[in-house]
Amino acid sequence: MKIKSAKFIKSSNHAADCPSDFIPEYAFIGRSNVGKSSLINCLCNNKKLAKTSSRPGKTRLINHFIINSSWYLVDLPGYGYANASKTEIKEFQGIIKDYFFLRKQLILAFILIDIRHDAQKIDIEFMKWLTTNNIAFSIIFTKIDKLSQSGNPNNGIEAKVGKYKDVILNNWEYLPEIFLTSSTKHIGKENILFYIDKLTSKFTQK
Ligand code: GTP
Ligand code: MG
Repeated sequence: MKIKSAKFIKSSNHAADCPSDFIPEYAFIGRSNVGKSSLINCLCNNKKLAKTSSRPGKTRLINHFIINSSWYLVDLPGYGYANASKTEIKEFQGIIKDYFFLRKQLILAFILIDIRHDAQKIDIEFMKWLTTNNIAFSIIFTKIDKLSQSGNPNNGIEAKVGKYKDVILNNWEYLPEIFLTSSTKHIGKENILFYIDKLTSKFTQK
């Protein structure tokens, strides 16, 4: 699938304010600074579409972007970062959970994970929460440009992904779909767009 048009529609501070049309929707979620907004820009070939920052906590609202006039990409606030206050984290988590409860048109959540880090409790718990609430998710590893392809056998891309898969399989019977990306180097976008296209076709055939 090619993205022919990508347009910002609105920012909402609550799921109830999100666009009301019932078209397929895909959300990007993960810890702050993991690269959610950057990946949306990379997929859409537009560096200015979603706001990005090297400082965590940039995206604070639910942002809807309409793609090819037919489906939404949604940029969500991060669900926590080192310097966030407890009140801030609670507020973001409230917005995020309401979003996932209310958006029945959501086809899939893409959970973004920074490939450099080992599995973090907050991500695994969020995946468990999605599973409990019957919300489908895939994993996208971000920033793969920061690790070597082979390099250190314990620290290269393959090793990191392998370790993460082990953690997943300790908690789930099956692995979700997994993608490897770098927004700065434009790696991995075709696979994600192909997957979205496949899921959207299924949804529209129903
Ligand atoms: P919040 O909105 O704060 O939750 O963050 P976010 O997840 O939207 O992250 P954002 O896209 O703003 O990116 C955070 C930082 O990571 C920015 O400095 C980006 O330039 C950088 N970044 C994002 N993706 C990549 C990547 O693939 N490779 C590298 N090297 N840096 C990246
Ligand atoms: Mg962001």
